[in-house]
Amino acid sequence: MHKGDECMRVAIDGPAGAGKSSIAKICAAKLGFIYIDTGAMYRAAAVYAIESGIEIDEKNMTREVLDRIKIDISYGENGQQIFLCGKDVTERIRRPDATIGSSDIAAIPAVRLKLVELQRRLALDNDVIMDGRDIGTYVLPDAEVKIFLTASVEERARRRFAELTAKGMEADFEQVKKDIEYRDKNDTERSFAPLRKAEDAVLIDSSDMTVEQVTERITEIIKGAM
Ligand code: DC
Repeated sequence: MHKGDECMRVAIDGPAGAGKSSIAKICAAKLGFIYIDTGAMYRAAAVYAIESGIEIDEKNMTREVLDRIKIDISYGENGQQIFLCGKDVTERIRRPDATIGSSDIAAIPAVRLKLVELQRRLALDNDVIMDGRDIGTYVLPDAEVKIFLTASVEERARRRFAELTAKGMEADFEQVKKDIEYRDKNDTERSFAPLRKAEDAVLIDSSDMTVEQVTERITEIIKGAM
């Protein structure tokens, strides 16, 4: 593991369901990097609002509310665990209300500024693979490797549906697809740090690729930059 200035930062951005987290996790384990799932932080912030009965919009996300949102991340044998005000919300953040809420809360600049600070801090002392929407364009604009991973809406909905049902969660394919379309629009059209490919990112369309193929491709790109 490198320390300080020699740390290697890999940014993987792309729309919901493109396979970023599964692939980033595998690549990080192979290379001994830490995997940082930034979407989990927006999800945790959304859970805070939902469970406190706070409607997610800009005027309600006051400094006082933001100060009460305490997010901690730990990395252990089971991967990333996420805590909200001391409570483990690793499972809770995957529920549909947190999925939609995360995209809404992510459009609020003050929320982003708070979470980006945490993300940049985590990348300071570790070799990281960080996935999200704005990592290559905003969070780590100097990342040594930038990937923009995408796939067709249909394929992304299919994957997300399979993931949910495999976890025993109830899901309706058309609803999963609608939710993905909603988030694509929301994440791309927000004014502050929207989802977009960084000019220097490598574009990978995974629609017709297996997880193994994408993982191999990205691992090669990272090794080439080391
Ligand atoms: O990657 P995910 O599905 O867990 O992300 C949940 C939402 O969080 C996503 O719809 C948009 C937002 N997000 C963001 O705006 N910026 C990031 N870096 C990561 C996620």
